[in-house]
Amino acid sequence: DGDGDHVSATEEYGDILVSTLPSVTSHGVLLRQYQGAWLAHHRVPGVISIQRRFEPRRGDVLLASSPKCGTTWLKALCFATMARAAYPAGAAEHPLHRLNPHECVPFLDDLFSAGQEGKLEALPSPRLMHTHMQHHLLPSSVANNPDCKIIYVCRDPKDMLVSLWLFARTILPCEDFSEMFESACQGKVIDGPIWDHVAGYWRASKASPERVMFLRYEQMLLDPVATVRALAGFLGVSFFPAEEAAGSPADIAKLCSLETLKGATGNNTGSTGAFFKFPHQTYFRKGVVGDWVNYMTPEMAQRFDSIVQDKLRGSGLTF
Ligand code: A3P
Repeated sequence: DGDGDHVSATEEYGDILVSTLPSVTSHGVLLRQYQGAWLAHHRVPGVISIQRRFEPRRGDVLLASSPKCGTTWLKALCFATMARAAYPAGAAEHPLHRLNPHECVPFLDDLFSAGQEGKLEALPSPRLMHTHMQHHLLPSSVANNPDCKIIYVCRDPKDMLVSLWLFARTILPCEDFSEMFESACQGKVIDGPIWDHVAGYWRASKASPERVMFLRYEQMLLDPVATVRALAGFLGVSFFPAEEAAGSPADIAKLCSLETLKGATGNNTGSTGAFFKFPHQTYFRKGVVGDWVNYMTPEMAQRFDSIVQDKLRGSGLTF
């Protein structure tokens, strides 16, 4: 059904012929270069559609990330924090026990590509949504909207690449890691260049820290409970003293931990994605810092680090 929807979306945007955009295949996915970003071919119509038609609502919260930087975790944390009045994190029947976090927070890029954006209308406010779009691709109605908050998560790009390769190869005809790595060095990786992805949101968070929160996966791992408190504060729903006393932030951190989510019923069956169907379990792997060491030589790491460093020079952001 995804393919059928995609054809109609492509026709609708006949003024931008997706099939004429520069292309490359990486980790088994055909990528197209659109406005400087390497988007999955099937998501280009969705991104264009978001740029032209997305209607923000007061109070919207948009989560943003490059793939494999902690999206699933961030979705779970924000969902559990925002919905805690209706669903206390300690409750045995919490939705995160039976649903994958991707089922709790819609992914705009796929939703619009599949022509299913109507689902967004049904969401109660404040809506919690997610995108992989780079910051400069966002419609200005979102990027410059004082009533719309953005929470971005990034990660050491080396760990992101390794996580991406291992994830993709679970269902896609993936090339060797070294081959994907070469493409990534040229910026050709899904939603890349990686450095542009992080730099865009970094600049936006520096310019408007009250509207754009910039998180790093490694820091979240160091103190998940502090992360929950920071998210609640940013979202304007800080924990009341009674909630603190009852251990609510720690309950949310525990509910959203890799261990709990990996073992949850909803993550041991089913799959997610409007186009590629990734089994829910594939979203949970090791969740550690520095696993790149098992897949990259020190030379590869050094080369990649210096490319990223070079691209981010002057931004104040380092990895
Ligand atoms: P690894 O492959 O390095 O283990 P995304 O959610 O953006 O697809 O990113 C997936 C990465 O986040 C994977 O990293 C996965 O293990 C990790 N992850 C998923 N859920 C997590 C959680 N609840 N806490 C910490 N890390 C998590």
